[in-house]
Amino acid sequence: MFWFDKEHPNVTYMDIRKESAGFIPEQPLFTIAPDVVADFTNMPFLDSSFKMVVFDPPHAKIGLTGILGKKYGTLPTDWESMLKDGFSECWRVLEDFGVLIFKWNSKTLPLSRISHTFPSNPLFGHTTAKSGSTIWVTFMKIPTL
Ligand SMILES: C[S@@+](CC[C@H](N)C(=O)[O-])C[C@H]1O[C@@H](n2cnc3c(N)ncnc32)[C@H](O)[C@@H]1O
Repeated sequence: MFWFDKEHPNVTYMDIRKESAGFIPEQPLFTIAPDVVADFTNMPFLDSSFKMVVFDPPHAKIGLTGILGKKYGTLPTDWESMLKDGFSECWRVLEDFGVLIFKWNSKTLPLSRISHTFPSNPLFGHTTAKSGSTIWVTFMKIPTL
């Protein structure tokens, strides 16, 4: 949803599911149409495949049946290992000096509650936000010598 070009030729869009138009009756045109259907905790890509990775996991404890739950997915009970494994995979597929962009919503869990799952210290981004607003955090995979 946040992509200006949802079919950019240089982007590989990945999600764990594909959904056709009509799966949300209230928003009949809404689809989920990734290039690759896969789990972000076990990505089907070689190490160092990408110059930029955007990680936008589910970030709210919302019901699976409501519109928001259907559109964005919902944070699982075991969110800690999901985030840790997801970040670890994002880091693995990123090349050295590549950039990782993380999108979050601090309404459910503040950044301070999830920062131990990060693959390194972020460079810059939001630390807090008004209730309900999106935050963005930027990392670079700087190799350690
Ligand atoms: C906040 S939405 C992402 C929206 C997306 N960035 C966009 O612009 O349309 C979170 C997505 O993560 C997906 N998801 C949940 N668990 C996943 C997993 N283990 N692996 C890959 N995708 C997952 C959900 O299906 C949901 O579509």
